Amino acid sequence: MDPRRILLAVSGGIAAYKTPELVRALRARGHDVRCMLTAAAERFVTPLVLQTLTGRSVRRELFDAGEEGEIDHIGLADWADLVVIAPATANLMAKMVQGLADDLVSTVLLATRAPLLVAPAMNVNMWGHPATRENVERLRHRGVTFVGPEAGELACGWEGLGRMSDPGRIADAADALLVAPSLRGERVVVTAGGTAEPIDAVRSVTNRSSGKMGFAIAAEAARRGADVVLIAGVTSLPTPHGVRRVDARSALEMREAVLAELDAATIVVKAAAVADFRPAAPSARKIKKEDLGDGASITLELVPNPDILAEISARKGSRTIVGFAAESHDVVEAARRKLARKGCDLIVANDISRADAGFEVDENAVRFVWPSGEVEELPLLPKSGVAAQLFDRIEKLRGGR
Ligand code: CTP
Repeated sequence: MDPRRILLAVSGGIAAYKTPELVRALRARGHDVRCMLTAAAERFVTPLVLQTLTGRSVRRELFDAGEEGEIDHIGLADWADLVVIAPATANLMAKMVQGLADDLVSTVLLATRAPLLVAPAMNVNMWGHPATRENVERLRHRGVTFVGPEAGELACGWEGLGRMSDPGRIADAADALLVAPSLRGERVVVTAGGTAEPIDAVRSVTNRSSGKMGFAIAAEAARRGADVVLIAGVTSLPTPHGVRRVDARSALEMREAVLAELDAATIVVKAAAVADFRPAAPSARKIKKEDLGDGASITLELVPNPDILAEISARKGSRTIVGFAAESHDVVEAARRKLARKGCDLIVANDISRADAGFEVDENAVRFVWPSGEVEELPLLPKSGVAAQLFDRIEKLRGGR
């Protein structure tokens, strides 16, 4: 593992006494470590110990001129390849969920775009409290990784879940998150989710796409150090950590959003399920049954939407452009025709007739269909795994340019 920059945030729990060991474990793996402490953390571990072990000054105050002069809090947030929060108290996690920034640690956690690894430590009842359970769930949904807590005897005298994981285990989890920043310098634009084409003020024509595949792709690109813009259609998913999100509901809005980001993009992945047609004349008002007359049927005239993928592929330049193909039959042949018609570099073909893969679920079974005619069939994988396989291919393509 190449040495990387790890920012260790220490909050005020008794487990803070183990952080010098954690620093040593991270340093032993060659990482450059800086520490920042909450006011309460300083009651359990002295800054001098951490400063001695890291060989770097320890940050404690948001508005201390001397500390800010050395490295300011935004500089600290940007410096980190990974932020490890150990121990993470219930209070600090609640602040992270709310986006509070009332001290140095919470402010840096709000400002950083680095991945976050949280090692909670608290009393068993605090860990089990519905407020903490909800906070953990929300942080997980945002892409925050947790290590522990472990079960055992707690410092407070209770037994149960709440012990901070051992320093070695936290250091292992940190290494697992530190993938090489192989997409640094790339600007990746990902589209995700379905579109909704308005019929009137309240109704629309949409599809079953959940956005999970596209969101996993955006998260993976961010993990690999890319600058990521996620253009999200209709989806209820939270924005992955470290990703800039632009919402675009209809195909026309999505086209505008993609074109606005295109010039700066080096890689575009079009995972969105864009509606091919939209109602010709959406009504600004709600269509009322009484206006139509009793028992009247209604005919919706649909007109074609622009094909965004074909349009941007025609302006490809040195960009890498990847399309998706959702097919229910003759998957490979249909994907090959789509690739030729649209002119992109690669098509990721989905067989949507499978119940265990594709729409709405967390796994996907895809084939990569290449302009050379080659087809690679991947096994059933979590969508994050498909995203990783996709970027392995994209990196090879771009390396070969
Ligand atoms: N796509 C697009 N703009 C559209 C329709 C599709 O950019 N108006 C993109 C999708 O984001 C996807 C790819 O084209 O990357 C293929 O989408 P898909 O719906 O499978 O193909 P279609 O071109 O719509 O063809 P068909 O529905 O006939 O299979």
